[in-house]
Amino acid sequence: MSESTNIDSLLHEERQFPPSADFVTNAVGKPDLYTRASKDRLGFWADQARELLHWHTPFTQTLDWSGAPVARWFGDGALNVSYNCLDRHVEAGLGDRVALHFEGEPGDQKSITYAELTEAVKKAANVMASRGLRQGDRVIIYMPLIPEAVIAMLAVARLGAIHSVVFGGFSSESLRARIDDAQATMVVTADGGHRRGAVFPLKDAVDHAIADGASSVENVFVVKRGGNDVEWVAGRDLWWHEEMAGVSDEHTAEAFESENPLFILYTSGTTGKPKGILHTSGGYLTQAAFTHKNVFDLHPETDVYWCTADIGWITGHSYVVYGPLANGATQVIYEGTPDTPHPGRWWEIIEKYRVSIFYTAPTAIRTFMKLGREIPQKFDLSSLRLLGSVGEPINPEAWIWYREVIGSGITPIVDTWWQTETGAIMISALPGVTATKPGSAQVPLPGISIDVVDDAGVHVGPEAGGLLVVTEPWPSMLRGIWGDEERFKETYWSTFPNTYFAGDGAHLDADNDVWLLGRVDDVMNVSGHRLSTMEIESALVAHPMSAEAAVVGASDDTTGQAIVAFVILKSRFVGTETDAALEGQLRTWVGEQIGAIAKPRKVFIVAELPKTRSGKIMRRLLRDIAEGREVGDTTTLTDTTVIRTINTSVND
Ligand code: WTA
Repeated sequence: MSESTNIDSLLHEERQFPPSADFVTNAVGKPDLYTRASKDRLGFWADQARELLHWHTPFTQTLDWSGAPVARWFGDGALNVSYNCLDRHVEAGLGDRVALHFEGEPGDQKSITYAELTEAVKKAANVMASRGLRQGDRVIIYMPLIPEAVIAMLAVARLGAIHSVVFGGFSSESLRARIDDAQATMVVTADGGHRRGAVFPLKDAVDHAIADGASSVENVFVVKRGGNDVEWVAGRDLWWHEEMAGVSDEHTAEAFESENPLFILYTSGTTGKPKGILHTSGGYLTQAAFTHKNVFDLHPETDVYWCTADIGWITGHSYVVYGPLANGATQVIYEGTPDTPHPGRWWEIIEKYRVSIFYTAPTAIRTFMKLGREIPQKFDLSSLRLLGSVGEPINPEAWIWYREVIGSGITPIVDTWWQTETGAIMISALPGVTATKPGSAQVPLPGISIDVVDDAGVHVGPEAGGLLVVTEPWPSMLRGIWGDEERFKETYWSTFPNTYFAGDGAHLDADNDVWLLGRVDDVMNVSGHRLSTMEIESALVAHPMSAEAAVVGASDDTTGQAIVAFVILKSRFVGTETDAALEGQLRTWVGEQIGAIAKPRKVFIVAELPKTRSGKIMRRLLRDIAEGREVGDTTTLTDTTVIRTINTSVND
C-alpha cells in the first residue's frame, strides 16, 4: 500500500457534529462572515479593524503589499494597543468587570477588574518610562504566569516599545541568546515562581545571562513572587513593588502607527539558532480580536474564558493577553501545573470560576485520558459550552473523549491551526456555523486564503495530500525575523512564488476539509512545543565529550513527539563511564543549554550514524529505531552494517 492510500484511509471520518439549534441562534460568528469576506477580502478586514478596535487616527489604506513579503496593514492609521485592551473598556463603563481571575499554584487568588488592571499598567508604564524606556526599545519578560507578567507586556506596548517574552522554562543560555539578539535594555523577571509544589528561581538565570559584562541590559525589574533569596546588583536591579509604590497612576496612551512593532517572539526553526518572529500592532490586534471573538463565540458579558497556555508562547500572547483583553473578556490565568497538588486541579478551577470557554492542547487531553475519566467526573464542568484545541493535530479518539468527558457530550470543539508566524488562528471551524469533524482543523477562517499544494505548487484535489500554504497576506502575519531579512524571505517565501510556506504537511478530504499532518521540516512538536532537531544537535555537539549527534522526533502517544538523540563520543571518552551515566550528563547538559523541555527522552551512545553516500544523516532510519520499528530501506546507506550496530547497541 502506498503512503498516500494509507493516509486516505486513515483520514476518513464519518462522524460530524453540527452545532445545536440554540448555539446557532446565539452564535457570534454567522455565515455572513464568509459571504462578506469572499466578496471583498480587504474590505472585510477593514470593517473588522474599525469595528473591533479604537483608532486614534483612522486609516484609509487597508493593505500595502508593494514591499512584499513585508506587509503594511492599515498603514496610515494610528492606535495604542494597551489603550485598546484597557482604557477604552473602562471609559465604556466596564471598569468593574473582572479582567483576570488569577489562581496561584499554592492556592492564592486575586480577581483584577479592568479598572484595576488599567491603573496598574499606567503605573508600570510610568515606571518604565522614568527608567528611560522609549518607543522601539526592547524589553525581555521572563516571568511565571502571574498578573505582573500581563501588566509588564501591556506597559511595554503602551509606550510603543517591543517586548520579547521568554518562557520561564528556558535556561539562562537561551535567555542570554535572546537578550543579545534583541539587544534588550530592560528585563522584567521575578525572584521565583511556583511549579509542581516548589519554587523555581528566575532571577538567577537572568544574572547568569547578563554576567559576561557586555550585555545591553541596563535595568532588571524583579517581582516578588517566590519569596526565595536573590543576588542583587545595586543600581541595575529594582524591586517591582518599590518602583510601583511611588509612581503616578495617570498616564495618557500615545498613538503609534499601525505598523509599530509590538513584540518579538523567538521560536525554533530548522537551524540551530531560534528566530525572532516580529509582530506589529494594528493588523495583529485586529486578527487576534476577530478570531478570539468569533472562533470562541465570545459573549463578554457572561462568558468566563480560560486558555491554559503560558505567555511565553504565541498562544499566550494572542489568546491570553491581546485577543481576550481587546474584547473585554473575563478570563482565568493559572500559574501552575495541571496536576499540582492533585490531578484534578484544572477541573477544580473550571468548577470554581464557572469557566465557559476552555482552550488547551491535545497533549494535555491525552494525559488526562490516560489518568482516567473518574478524575474530571468528580467536578462540575456543566458551565463549559465551548472547547478549543491548539498546538498539534488532535487525534479523533482524544477529540471524542474531550467532547464526551469534559464537554458533557454537547460542546462544540474548535481545532485551531496556526503558528507563531501567523500571529492568530488561520484554520478553524466557526462553532455556530460549521459541523465539526474529529481530527480535522477543517476550514480557513473568513478573510484567510489557504491551499494545499504539491511540490510544484499546484493545488491538490480532494482526497489528496501536499503542503500547506497561505496564498494571500493576512493582517496578523509576521513582518519579518528580527535582524535577518534574508532568512525571513528564504524560510517562508522561497519555496513557492508570492506564497507563504508554513512548513506543515496537509491533506484535503472529500469535503475539502484540511487535516494537518505535522511538520515537513526538521522542527519537532513535543507536547505542543516547537523544538528544532538542529538546535538540540548543536547543544549536544557543544558538549566536550561528543563528536557527533543526531536528533529525531519519535512518535509518542501522549506528547505527540519525543526527542531521541544518538551521540557518538570522542574516542578518548569511549568506555570511560557507563552509557547510563553518559546519558544522564548529556540530558542535563541539553537542559542547561536550552531548557528542560528540550531534554531528550533518550540518548543512545552509538559508534556510528547511518549516512547517505553524500554524507547526510538518514534520520528516517533513526526514527525507525527510536520508534522500535523494523528499519526501512537502507539501500542508499554507505555502510549497511551501521544500522545493525546501532540496533544492537540500542537493544542492549
Ligand atoms: C502545529 C502554535 C495541527 C503545526 C499556535 C504548526 C498544529 C506548529 C495545530 C506551530 C493544529 C499548531 N493542528 N497542528 N490545530 N496548531 N500546530 O509556532 O505544526 O508554537 O506549524 O504555534 O504547531 O507551532 P507554534
